[in-house]
Amino acid sequence: MQQLSILILAAGQGKRMVSDLPKILHRLGNSPLLTHVLTAAHQLEAAATRIVVYGHGGEMVRAAFADEPNVLWVEQAEQLGTGHAVAQALPLADDAGVALVLYGDVPLIQSETLQPLVDAARQGQLALLTVELDNPAGYGRIVRDDQGQVQRIVEEKDATPSERGLSEINTGILAVSTAKLRGWVAELRNENAQGEYYLTDVIALAVRDGVPVEPFTVTEPLEVQGVNDRRQLAELERYYQRRQAERLMRDGATLLDPARVDIRGVLSTGRDVVIDVNVVFEGTVRLGDRVKIGPFCMLKDAVIGDDVQILSHCWVDGAEVGSGAQIGPFARLRPDTRLAAGVHIGNFVETKKTRIGTGSKVNHLTYLGDAEIGTGVNVGAGTITCNYDGVNKHKTVIEDDAFIGSNSSLVAPVRIGRGATIGAGSSVSRDVPDSSLCLTRAPRKEVTNWQRPVKTKKL
Ligand code: UD1
Ligand code: CA
Repeated sequence: MQQLSILILAAGQGKRMVSDLPKILHRLGNSPLLTHVLTAAHQLEAAATRIVVYGHGGEMVRAAFADEPNVLWVEQAEQLGTGHAVAQALPLADDAGVALVLYGDVPLIQSETLQPLVDAARQGQLALLTVELDNPAGYGRIVRDDQGQVQRIVEEKDATPSERGLSEINTGILAVSTAKLRGWVAELRNENAQGEYYLTDVIALAVRDGVPVEPFTVTEPLEVQGVNDRRQLAELERYYQRRQAERLMRDGATLLDPARVDIRGVLSTGRDVVIDVNVVFEGTVRLGDRVKIGPFCMLKDAVIGDDVQILSHCWVDGAEVGSGAQIGPFARLRPDTRLAAGVHIGNFVETKKTRIGTGSKVNHLTYLGDAEIGTGVNVGAGTITCNYDGVNKHKTVIEDDAFIGSNSSLVAPVRIGRGATIGAGSSVSRDVPDSSLCLTRAPRKEVTNWQRPVKTKKL
């Protein structure tokens, strides 16, 4: 098969973003715009050569993508137009193959939309992606002849009033034989209203050379919408989120309001998951079957087992939650929290780097850090693992079936033995043997008929 080279133009400054950040590093669904384009390109054809033409903020861009494998980078020091940008990339493209032109600031293009363009290019056509807009102002217009054959593209600034009346516009995305593109790009002149080398002029050159120009039309303009300012970025963010919400519902999740869930990463859901309003997912999150997420939760890089219920206002980050567990409301599970099946975590409980065994309960107002907790343990309200001495972190171990009375401080390193009981209000700084009671509560003092001090009235 003819090698596919995907040229991604991304040298533009993005003045209207009013930002110190290059436009393509602005985030959509919490990933840089360019990441979305690189992903679509990869999904289209994993073996394709991806070439990014970058310019403004080059160092920042290169640094942001330092870990991205299989991308070739070309600098376009001066932005002399889209045709000039393509010319910078072409030396890295395979002449025997076809080239597809994409844009770093058109993030939501789908590989399914691009596939027919690449197929047409491999059949010797020039494939062009167009869209009908109610308001085509600012875009290049597609000029067709009486038979509906595409003749050329005219930029808004060079168009006659009647051409400006055309509502079919150029998305900028096209695919064609690399060798042909190279020849045409070498012919481009910048004698036009903007003094730029227009990539769009290759259409007329293709027509001249008898290369069939095949237009493909997208029905959803937002798929090919570029990001020029923050308003458009926000608009695309909403469209992107809506699309993800629709996918989730297709996969069998109930969203109480598909407009009020945000997925900033990858979310996979089991069967009959229910997600209430205003839940944000970040990174990679997996929800098992019948998971219920209450309103106003944040879940990041988490694996949630079957039948788990997360009540409202929980923060779950870097945690693994076993099946049937109940979390919240108002709980905070921090990185490296691992809860076994059936664990209960109640309100105002924070856990960090902590493992909790099957069926253990931590129901109220507690901090567990660097702890290992067995099965069937009950941790009373207001329990604190004092894990930090100001320099080092120390471990707390609570063995199976222990009972920690309320308002206890467990001063780590410390081990509470199997079946041990800690009396409420204790401060435990030495290990507690199995099956014993540990109580450090100060003895009660009682004075009967206690006379409180009396205020003397000032004269
Ligand atoms: C371009 C098209 C226009 C189309 C519109 C769609 C041309 C001449 N015009 O117009 O027909 O309707 O896109 O949005 O192609 N870029 C570079 N280097 C350059 C110039 C541009 O990398 O020297 C990149 C930009 O970063 C941007 C893209 O190319 O991502 C488009 O450039 P822009 O200047 O926005 O082109 P338009 O004038 O909008
Ligand atoms: Ca533009």
